[in-house]
Amino acid sequence: MATDKREIILSGIRPTGRLHYGNYFGAIRAFLDLQEQGHRCYYFIADYHALTTITERMDLYRQTIDMLRTYVACGLDPAKSVIYRQSDLPCTAELTLLLGMITNIGHLERGTTYKDKMAKLTSESEGLEGNPLSYGLLGYPVLMAADILIVKADKVPVGDDQRQHVEMAIEMARKFNHRFGEVLKVPASVPRNALRLPGLDGSAKMGKSDNNTLDLLDDPKTVLAKIKGVQTTTDPLPLSSDSDDPDAIIPQMPPSLGALYRMLHLLAPEDVYQDFVGKYRRGEKFYGTLKTTLAEHVSKFNAPIIEGFNAPGNTEATVCEFLRANAEKVTETALDTVESCKAAMGLGRSLFRA
Ligand code: TRP
Repeated sequence: MATDKREIILSGIRPTGRLHYGNYFGAIRAFLDLQEQGHRCYYFIADYHALTTITERMDLYRQTIDMLRTYVACGLDPAKSVIYRQSDLPCTAELTLLLGMITNIGHLERGTTYKDKMAKLTSESEGLEGNPLSYGLLGYPVLMAADILIVKADKVPVGDDQRQHVEMAIEMARKFNHRFGEVLKVPASVPRNALRLPGLDGSAKMGKSDNNTLDLLDDPKTVLAKIKGVQTTTDPLPLSSDSDDPDAIIPQMPPSLGALYRMLHLLAPEDVYQDFVGKYRRGEKFYGTLKTTLAEHVSKFNAPIIEGFNAPGNTEATVCEFLRANAEKVTETALDTVESCKAAMGLGRSLFRA
């Protein structure tokens, strides 16, 4: 069998359970594009990472399965992309340990995830008493570096919030190679032109914890109720731009109205969007129809995803099967990376592996 010479593109997905439009336009769409362009795509569920911010018992297994069924319903194809679960590659934990030995604590303390959590805690009244920041959270970027380096990824497309972590992984690989020899493949980070979708409450970002999402599996009734609930009592502000470009005019609208226009532009045909821009400019009464029209387009988009989610070929059993098969596909490379790192550091070959 000829070896696959294509570059490896890797990205991790946090198991968040329900997926919403922010996830779709921020990540899923890019994953599908890369898959359809014929790249060798590795997408994995970062379930170890989910544990770094866990505050209570949650069913990560269930969340992972349902999230993957949604991904499959959106078009992610386990026959085209290698989709696996981080915890099915436990040697990632060993590589994390090895990389941890060459990582400065000061460096990790400047990591965005850690810094944000720290800032939040110090601003809350209890301060840092009973400091719940974990060793695992501080080590978030090390684990992420292990994810990337273990499968010898060439490119790591991530959203802006994860860029710094990818840079840290690149730095760790260079440092390792400098110290112990050229063992690790140094990846390149690539910007992903991700769109940050505003929340239905008009806040800058649609996010599950902010309760401002439209979900990909919402049924038509829920969609309509959520959209009707969007606050549109503020008078429209005049648009100073003559352009129809959503990037020019949407920021000039009251934020929650802007969120509706943004969705409409993404989901409805161009002439429908233009028609509502015209109504806005002329100051017509249009909020009611804007909402019902948008709800229709959202439900139309959701329908095949809901159908795919419930399809007989998309069950817990089929997801488990492709997770297992795909983890097997990357295991050999992953073990090879860890063994090479250990040997380079002076540990020598495992006596228990063939
Ligand atoms: N931290 C990433 C996120 O929150 C997920 C992730 C984990 C990841 N490991 C990765 C992304 C490796 C890219 C490469 O979105």
